[in-house]
Amino acid sequence: MKALVWHGEGDIRLDDVADPSIQDANDAIVRITRSAICGTDLHFIRGTMAGMHEGTILGHEAVGVVEEVGASVRGLSPGDRVIVCSTMSCGVCRYCRMGQTAQCDVANPNGPAAGTCFFGGPAPTGPVDGLQAEYARIPWASNTLIPIPDNVSDDDAILLSDIFPTAWFGAQLAGIRRGDTVAVYGAGIVGQLAIAAAYRQGAGRVWAVDGVQTRLVKALEQNAEVIDFNAEDPVEAIMDATMGVGVDAVIEAVGVDAQRPARGPAAEKYAARTEQFAAEVAQTAPETNVQGENWVPGNAPSLSAQWAVESVAKYGRIGMIGVFSPDLTSFPIGAATNKNLTLRAGNCDHRSVTPPLLDLVAAGLFDPAPFVTQREPLDDVVDAYLSFDRRDEGWLKTVLTTE
Ligand SMILES: NC(=O)c1ccc[n+]([C@@H]2O[C@H](COP(=O)([O-])OP(=O)(O)OC[C@H]3O[C@@H](n4cnc5c(N)ncnc54)[C@H](O)[C@@H]3O)[C@@H](O)[C@H]2O)c1
Ligand SMILES: [Zn+2]
Ligand SMILES: [Zn+2]
Repeated sequence: MKALVWHGEGDIRLDDVADPSIQDANDAIVRITRSAICGTDLHFIRGTMAGMHEGTILGHEAVGVVEEVGASVRGLSPGDRVIVCSTMSCGVCRYCRMGQTAQCDVANPNGPAAGTCFFGGPAPTGPVDGLQAEYARIPWASNTLIPIPDNVSDDDAILLSDIFPTAWFGAQLAGIRRGDTVAVYGAGIVGQLAIAAAYRQGAGRVWAVDGVQTRLVKALEQNAEVIDFNAEDPVEAIMDATMGVGVDAVIEAVGVDAQRPARGPAAEKYAARTEQFAAEVAQTAPETNVQGENWVPGNAPSLSAQWAVESVAKYGRIGMIGVFSPDLTSFPIGAATNKNLTLRAGNCDHRSVTPPLLDLVAAGLFDPAPFVTQREPLDDVVDAYLSFDRRDEGWLKTVLTTE
């Protein structure tokens, strides 16, 4: 079958590989009909999330059709249309039973202390071959797959594999309450749906911060109040807009590839931090393979976290869903404690967060499909990655089609 394979930093190829097969009684094989490219995938190719094994199939967002099930898989049959949750979970361990499925004790083959197990990631997450392929092996299929009702199309379901639940989870981590003022850092697809989630969870006013114009325009279409960090200092803009108080809650949706402003007042402000940021890049990205404008690591890994702490009110809440390398150690802990902040962070508990969101989509109360800006055949996946990585105009979210 065809699959997108990680060969090294800056080196991904659409290869012919062996079809997956059932290896455990809890496995299923799914024929992938839609997969998607995520900002998380970019970290692995830029080198800002180390530990990838050569040969790992990339991708952790997909929907498809069950082809075959292992002997212990009881609730699913060949022919069922399913969402593949990005993170795998058993459904019966203590964490899963509390809904904390991203920290399932048994899914990660590296043991209970290893943390989240997701498709197409570095060695400490499995590694488990990913979903940007024609077929995939799904461990713990009974809990990792969610059946799709007939009135929800594959195109409507694909953002339920990772992005919409992650954004919803981010708003939950930020503890959004009715009337809250909220800042969302990052207006990529995760930030866009975090804006939608924040409003639906009761936020009053929502500010969105990014430096890419087309993404700010998309945020404005949702009536977020947009701040271009290349034109304004985002912390000052938020302080001005909140009468000097700061926002009640922040959703951080940038992660380790955060960039510093290239122009404007905030660019000057951080000029003196060049060495600190360079040291952070060296810490998080020991191996890189920059090719022209592609695969360039973010030049300020801790900056969005810094802005989150600075722009939130005293006793404010930060929900951090951007992915950060475990090797990154800088965080403004003094400023956070001095303001009595609450920080909650991590990987989405997909299996427990997604079902009510699928109901919203099935009921026609939320339509994720307009957030998909590109649809490309799997054959063109490498070119699609290059455009998405460069943030080419309009490239917010790419769905890959295999039929
Ligand atoms: N926690 C989870 O379960 C989970 C799931 C999916 C994605 N993620 C993470 O969420 C993050 C966003 O994903 P995405 O697909 O939207 O990625 P993306 O790369 O498309 O978007 C990131 C956005 O952040 C912007 N940005 C860069 N520096 C910034 C700064 N200093 N301040 C504000 N914005 C800045 C970029 O311009 C870009 O628009 C990534 O880190 C990804 O790994 C986490
Ligand atoms: Zn993703
Ligand atoms: Zn479990």
